[in-house]
Amino acid sequence: MINLMLTSCTIERGAAARCAEAPVPAQVRTQVQDPAHAHVQAAAELADGLGAHQARISPKFLYDALGSTLFEAICALPEYYPTRTEAALFERFGAEIARACGAGTTLIDLGAGNCAKAASLFPRLRPARYVAVDISVDFLTEALARLRGRFPHIAMEALGLDFSNGLALPDSVPAERRLFFYPGSSLGNFTPPEARAFLLRLRNECGPDGGLLIGIDLVKDKATLDAAYDDALGVTAAFNLNILRHANHLLGADFDVRGWRHVAFYNEAPGRVEMHLEARTPQRVRWPGGGRDFAAGERIHTENSYKYRQADAIALLEQSGFETTRIWLDARCPFAVIHAQAIR
Ligand code: AVI
Repeated sequence: MINLMLTSCTIERGAAARCAEAPVPAQVRTQVQDPAHAHVQAAAELADGLGAHQARISPKFLYDALGSTLFEAICALPEYYPTRTEAALFERFGAEIARACGAGTTLIDLGAGNCAKAASLFPRLRPARYVAVDISVDFLTEALARLRGRFPHIAMEALGLDFSNGLALPDSVPAERRLFFYPGSSLGNFTPPEARAFLLRLRNECGPDGGLLIGIDLVKDKATLDAAYDDALGVTAAFNLNILRHANHLLGADFDVRGWRHVAFYNEAPGRVEMHLEARTPQRVRWPGGGRDFAAGERIHTENSYKYRQADAIALLEQSGFETTRIWLDARCPFAVIHAQAIR
């Protein structure tokens, strides 16, 4: 029996769905940010964060090829509820979601990874074009190559770029009927002010007839949250520790991964799960042009994952120029899929 706690509600009737689906020749284009420039930028950002009073590494550095694979494994863990909860909402309410979004859109998948979530929606959403955006482009290109054969009528494009600080889409992406797809509660990895700034940028890239389909994780009990980010198998620990290997590669640092341990917990006051790496013993880390000594027990903050209350999520969207048209909810394991339209 389908989970009876899944509910959907209409906030306001969206515009009638447009159903014209123009046949577009299949193609896969790949665009990548200048790799040399991206590497220099990444090294500077890492050095800056590691030198800060409270050392930090941005969560975007969790996703090299191995990190993306480990994240895929996390999504299959029994403790990590967001992926299967959101998938159940997509499955149960796919037809309603497709009606709210309309067919023939340019579906822009932010943080596409293996593209599986978007692909599962293709038969119902019937986009004219699919633009997969991810920082880890190798992973993306392989995924798109696999998808191309299954959906030959959808034009496909892979964009390898870091959209966390800006999102200027190339001219190859049509300006009309853009539907941004931001599932998996990735919005939670921004602080609320960063999330607002990010959504505002999306709104500006949306055009007047654009929209957003987003998955947002909602506040729930601490035990569930703690377990989801500190699983019994240690997959999340490996995912977190891998950021040090990635930093070694990008910055030329000499982190000894064995000297660090994974720490994750729900911090109720700010309403976020925090991930840290804690030095097991004193650690001396060097990189070209810098370095730092860490005392035993000192931490590097690697990720926040904010959990929203439903009303706060809607307010955040509104403050960013989006009007919520529909919400699909799992009330048992609180999670929301929201369709929002750009406010004209
Ligand atoms: C990608 N993002 C939404 C995940 C999350 O739940 O914050 C990343 C993650 N970190 C640990 N487990 C999963």
